[in-house]
Amino acid sequence: MFDLIIKGGNLPDGRVTDIGIKDHKIVAIETLDADAAEVIDATGDLVSPPFVDPHFHMDATLSYGTPRINASGTLLEGIGLWGELKQVMTPDEVKARALEYCDWAASLGLLAIRSHVDTCHDSLMGVEVLLEVRREVADYIDLQLVAFPQDGLFRSPTAYDNTIRALDMGVDVVGGIPHFERTMADGARSVTTLCEIAAKRGLRVDMHCDETDDPHSRHIETLAFETQRLGLQGRVAGSHLTSMHSMDSYYVSKLLPLIAEAQVAAIPNPLINIMLQGRHDSFPKRRGLTRVKEMQAMGITVGWGQDCVMDPWYSLGTGDMLDVAFMGLHVAQMSSPDEMRRCFDMVTNVNAAIMGLEEYGLRIGAKASLVVLDAGNPIEALRLRPDRLCVVANGKVISRKSRNDARLSLSGRPEFLRRRHGAHSG
Ligand code: FE2
Repeated sequence: MFDLIIKGGNLPDGRVTDIGIKDHKIVAIETLDADAAEVIDATGDLVSPPFVDPHFHMDATLSYGTPRINASGTLLEGIGLWGELKQVMTPDEVKARALEYCDWAASLGLLAIRSHVDTCHDSLMGVEVLLEVRREVADYIDLQLVAFPQDGLFRSPTAYDNTIRALDMGVDVVGGIPHFERTMADGARSVTTLCEIAAKRGLRVDMHCDETDDPHSRHIETLAFETQRLGLQGRVAGSHLTSMHSMDSYYVSKLLPLIAEAQVAAIPNPLINIMLQGRHDSFPKRRGLTRVKEMQAMGITVGWGQDCVMDPWYSLGTGDMLDVAFMGLHVAQMSSPDEMRRCFDMVTNVNAAIMGLEEYGLRIGAKASLVVLDAGNPIEALRLRPDRLCVVANGKVISRKSRNDARLSLSGRPEFLRRRHGAHSG
């Protein structure tokens, strides 16, 4: 007797099978002729492990327009605007925005998120709030937090102490922003200092790194070096790495093997990179994305991150990782069937590996979390970015949508989410 059977779905690898769930775990992946408390017919539908976002800012999300919009559309004005927002935001408002976003995410099958949280404000209010949110959503979203000294570890006078305090409070991962420090030397020093903190505490590292069009921004080199020196292989990610799009190719031919050797993962964020980078260019205007296919060809792990939804840096976004992969495959020109399937894998299995999610996946013994999509296979899912017919988290159905419903919108959210906000479900 199973708690739940997902019947006859298409797995991303092409298998057509049933999935049996019991006690919050996947216990069978085979044709099942057995009873279950609940059976979901997924015939013809894609059944995928949940979407995973390894790069997000939950303290800033859904704040678009407060206190004003980003007029230049640049990263630097976004950072300035975020500084203004920090002065006026309140714990209740930050929490409400974060929980609202978690609802959006869950309804789209996005069940694991790595969110940076700013550690530069002495109150550490954002840290406190997101730790609370992490507890409250734990039944359906794995929320991993990164201590992120947004204004620079050395550039902001109290950032170092506050970052240490945030880690003491239970933040999971060490972050940084070397390209925003005052000098290249300070940037490199921040990478060393932050990696040493991570090594001492046994934590992972995920640094905003070289998020600039300046080809001389080479902090990824220091990040790879420190990863190797401190034995952090497999536990470090460099987010963005956009400067690599403009680096000299001879230098890149030396750099990529160093990144591969250190097992540093890369997290480009295509929606944000294509929007923010190249703003100072005339024509030809550079694509803002790092060298995705070239890194993968060297054996470097590359996932797709989302970064922002309706905040000081990006005015759009929904929480749909298929939108992220869709943009990524266009900008990186990953158009062959194999490359498109890889893009789907990047927003599921690869991102889960980057976050170190040990219970993740469609396999026996894994946590019973999955999503049923109104598409036949991963490429069709990327093309259509279709409805999520059913989302299962920890063995429980948390969101459903009838086939042919209107595409998800704020006013048309699934039953689970409407209930959560106290509205009528029928
Ligand atoms: Fe970011």
